[in-house]
Amino acid sequence: MSNPVLTAIADRRSIRAYKGEQLTQEQLDTILKAARESPSARNIQPWHFTVVQKPDILKEVNEEAHKNIGSPDIPPDIFYAAPTVVFVSCNAEDRWGRLDCGIAVQTIALTAHSLGLGSVILGLPDAAFTGPRKDHFNQLLKFPAGYSFAVAIAIGVPAGTKEAHPQEPDRITFI
Ligand SMILES: Cc1cc2nc3c(=O)[nH]c(=O)nc-3n(C[C@H](O)[C@H](O)[C@H](O)COP(=O)(O)O)c2cc1C
Repeated sequence: MSNPVLTAIADRRSIRAYKGEQLTQEQLDTILKAARESPSARNIQPWHFTVVQKPDILKEVNEEAHKNIGSPDIPPDIFYAAPTVVFVSCNAEDRWGRLDCGIAVQTIALTAHSLGLGSVILGLPDAAFTGPRKDHFNQLLKFPAGYSFAVAIAIGVPAGTKEAHPQEPDRITFI
């Protein structure tokens, strides 16, 4: 069976190399509209999207994440030089907030893919927002009061692709 939604789901990949060009305003608007069309528990929409296209800010978050993680195993640039990164923060009090933000970020990933863009969902930036300078970084990214980092997503024109991830065989039970 095939249709455009199934094709987008099957063909999306985490993209970790980008061309220099920026997203168009129309692409960005389309992505943010789709993100806000995502479902959320009780329709609370407990998310906030901070769009960052300033390399200086991404550099600062990257350096802080490196400092706080302190492991050589993470990539030198956790944003892979993507021209746009959307930070999704969530209402920390909301019972389903982080799950809702996860759904929204997948909507962004699929929408970006449908527009011919690449993306990668990012958890690593979390280290900048939970470390000793978390207040500074929450303010730098303009998270609303009471909101905290949930997840981020780097978006850009892909400079390469990869194989689909192999599916673990025993993750379904029929009863
Ligand atoms: C919640 C979440 C956090 C992730 N964090 C990172 C990250 O910080 N850096 C990264 O390169 N990839 C990250 N990924 C991407 C995964 O590594 C990727 O989805 C997985 O390897 C499967 O590959 P695929 O997306 O190409 O199918 C994250 C994915 C999810 C869903």
